[in-house]
This record gives sequence, structure tokens and C-alpha cells, in this order.
Amino acid sequence: MRKGIILAGGKGSRLYPATEVTSKQLLPIFDKPMIYYPLSVLMLAGIREILIISTPEDTPRFEMLLKDGSELGLHISYMVQPKPEGLPHAFILAENFLAGYPCCLILGDNLFYGNDLTTLLRSASKQKEGAIIFACKVANPEKYGVITFDKANKPQKIIEKPTSPISRFAVPGLYFYDERVSAIAKTLVPSARGELEISDLNQKYLNMNELDVMFMKRGMAWMDMGTFESLLIASNFIETVQSRHGIKIACPEEIAYRMGFISSSELKELALQRHPEDYGKYLLDLLEEE
Ligand code: TTP
Repeated sequence: MRKGIILAGGKGSRLYPATEVTSKQLLPIFDKPMIYYPLSVLMLAGIREILIISTPEDTPRFEMLLKDGSELGLHISYMVQPKPEGLPHAFILAENFLAGYPCCLILGDNLFYGNDLTTLLRSASKQKEGAIIFACKVANPEKYGVITFDKANKPQKIIEKPTSPISRFAVPGLYFYDERVSAIAKTLVPSARGELEISDLNQKYLNMNELDVMFMKRGMAWMDMGTFESLLIASNFIETVQSRHGIKIACPEEIAYRMGFISSSELKELALQRHPEDYGKYLLDLLEEE
């Protein structure tokens, strides 16, 4: 079994004033709260034990939205991060939750969509030893942790927000680790900006020769949703795909059903509770189509 963590705290300062009284990860991406998208990724990876970490103010709001997860055949728990101390801080906070299990961390403001996503997630999730990160070509690598490769495509170095253009491959906010991650996170020291850096954690696994890198190729869309422009781009993207094909992207009730976490009668019950003339109608139509 692998456990999942959604990191959904942070300052959200680039989205001020939209984030003044609510969490970034609760803002809508077209027709759903942002957190539905990373939650769906964990579910597609087959992960059912999930910890949501957020700020003292916002954690209760996520709990109101997703409760204990049982409606979706999940077990969701919550933890407060008193202040943003960096992404690997999640593994120190979550040590008891992880209880020696391998895990997957996804950032609450990352969107993934693509044909091969489920296959990629399943193969990453199967691997129990070491760490797995992804590499995705982007136009603006200086905004992310980037990874360099040698001629044989062997990963060489991971650098957080490089000032010089050393690689076009950014590392998306989706990471798989073995049971040693909390212990290794505790050995990290804060960077110049005062945070523990996920790139330093990944570099440690690389130094031990225990880091695998999987490529997210052209057929895969990866976006982060932390700026006003990227919120709009992500919303437009979701609307375009959904209206063209008459499907919903990242509908947790549908994924729970398709993954076999809930039965058709449980899905029907959820549909009737969730505005059966609108959102719920989509769920009822799914059952009808079958
Ligand atoms: P960022 O986008 O790097 O930071 P932020 O959300 O605080 O936004 P801004 O830069 O506009 O102030 O964070 C990436 C994700 O990780 C996001 O979902 C917030 C989350 N996060 C935490 O939950 N705790 C942390 O300590 C950090 C650094 C980020």
C-alpha cells in the first residue's frame, strides 16, 4: 500500500487579494475546487489513504468539503502546517501518518491531464524502492526545480529555480518516495529563502543512486495554478476539453466509481445528494450510459 499527501497550504501571495480570505486550493478551476484535480491524481494512482496538509485557517475548510473521504471510498485525514516551511516539511509533519509506508506527494496547485497519466501513475506507484520524480519540458524552467541529464539520459543534478538556463526539464509537483522519506527530510537544512527544498531531498536520493526519473511527454499537460494567468489558462483548458467531449475532468465521484472504490448504488446515492439537476446529473448519466 502507498499513502498520499496533498500539500495545500502556503501563502498564495501571488494570488492576492483572491486568497485573502480563502485558500488558493479552494478557488475554482472552471467548475470545481482546485484540490479536486490533485485529489483525482492520487485516486487514479490507486491511493486511498490520503493526508491533506494546509494552514491553520484553511484546514477546516478542506475538511468541510471532503470530510473523512468515506463517501468516495477513501480515508482522508488532515494536518495543520503552522507556517510554510517548505515542501519536504510535509514528510516531517506526516511521519506518524506514513508509519513506514511508501508515499506520493502532490502539490495542491498542480494540474495533470493526459492519455498516459494513469499508466504512468500506476508504474510509478508499483516501484517500492527509492524515489521517482518526473521531468517535463517547459518554456519557463527558471520558475521550477529543474533536472539535468547526461548524454545517456542519466539524471545528473537537480537545481531549484536556476538563474542560468541549464535545462528545459522542470520537475512537476508530483513525487513518489519510499519509507525512508521522513528520516531523509529531517537531515535537510533550510535554503537561503528559509525553506526546506524538495530539490535538495531529490538530490539526496540521486546521490544515493536511488532516484528514477520518468518523462512526461507531449501528450501530457502539466500546469501549476498559482498565478492569475495560470488560473485562467487552466480553467479554459478544462472547459475546452469538457465541453468538446461531454466529460468531466477530475470528478472524484466518477473516479471512485471507475476505480471500484464505490459501487453503482453508492454512486447513485451521491448523485442524488449532489444537485441531481446539475453536477449530480453527470453522475446519473454515467450510470445510465452503462
Ligand atoms: P508555492 O506555489 O511555491 O507557494 P504558495 O502557494 O505559498 O504561493 P505564493 O508563491 O504565491 O505565495 O507552493 C506550492 C504548493 O505547495 C502550494 O499548493 C502551496 C503548498 N505549500 C505548502 O502547503 N506548504 C509550504 O510550506 C509551501 C512552501 C508550499
